[in-house]
Amino acid sequence: MPLPARRFFAPGRMNIIGEHVDYCDGFVLPAAIQLGCTVDARLSGTDELAVQLPGETDRLAISGFQPSRGWRNYVGGMAQELARDLGLTAPPGAALSIAGSVPQGAGLSSSAALEISVGLALWTLWHAAGVAPAPDPLRLARLAQRAEHIAVGNPCGIMDQYASVFGVAGQALMLDCRALSHEAVALPPGAAFILIDSTVPHELAANGDYAGVRDDIAAALRLLGAASWRDVTGLDQLGGLAGSLAGRARHVVTEIARTRAARSALEAGDLVTLGALMNDGHSSLRDDLRTSLPQVDALQVLMAAHPSVYGARMMGGGFGGNVIAAVDGDGAEAVAAELAHAWQAQLRQADLPFHVVCTASAGARELS
Ligand code: GLA
Repeated sequence: MPLPARRFFAPGRMNIIGEHVDYCDGFVLPAAIQLGCTVDARLSGTDELAVQLPGETDRLAISGFQPSRGWRNYVGGMAQELARDLGLTAPPGAALSIAGSVPQGAGLSSSAALEISVGLALWTLWHAAGVAPAPDPLRLARLAQRAEHIAVGNPCGIMDQYASVFGVAGQALMLDCRALSHEAVALPPGAAFILIDSTVPHELAANGDYAGVRDDIAAALRLLGAASWRDVTGLDQLGGLAGSLAGRARHVVTEIARTRAARSALEAGDLVTLGALMNDGHSSLRDDLRTSLPQVDALQVLMAAHPSVYGARMMGGGFGGNVIAAVDGDGAEAVAAELAHAWQAQLRQADLPFHVVCTASAGARELS
């Protein structure tokens, strides 16, 4: 008789503000959301992973995993990095049945939800089998980030994996990406956050461009002769930079300042200031960092103009994905639907774009 499966869940994330500064020792303000990835897992008595997803099955090696395509790299990469880090030369195999509710390509970090749910499931099973210590949340987040670097080839920061692990219901996380620690920030009761998909799938364009942005920002820091963006506190320090490097550096400095200000605005329940910071953040992504696209800018304009919206900005790695807006808590569902219909009409598309009211939710956990 096979062991009964245990069920694990890890969420996707929204990011209120703090974009492209997680890999700059900056501050970011994400929250885990209600959508995520569920994994039913049990040890299988083999040395590989037997993975089932809706409509697909496959077998993946753990120790000798070779990156291939799609979800396999997140699952196999996570398993391999985890086994390596735990020093498991013969990691026990498992049967995994995976189902996700985060739409892919909409910038809600379906990838972090997949990595973290699989990582937590395997680590918990290996611990129960006596071959590993109990799961450590920060180590799990860092390993998932590393798996994404190595197996997927995406040089992401830590924000998505960290938020998926450490999310707190009703709260955002003020994540200090240098200290790798956070403080929970309660979301004001009158506020809601809505997302609308631009329908430009961000992975189509993002991989090369995300890495290019990261490289530019690293090059700018080298030219400034500073060890960390936390030591670059004012725009007056950027005088030696020119062209696109200057713009990208300006984004980093101003975005870290905006994130700190947004935290204070949330704590004061000042949604007007929060909204203004989000609008400014979008302008900075568009003009200085240059990670937006005309279609995304048009959606931001549409959303920011709605009377119930305090402010709106492109969210995530860029070059597509969705726009997040802070709105009045009352009637947020109706506002999201109204804006999605307006966006559908503007695009002249047959399908209603994905839209959601995000609920700040708890991080990765075993479901009983
Ligand atoms: C993606 C990455 C994150 C972060 C954002 C931009 O979501 O995975 O690490 O860099 O882009 O803020």
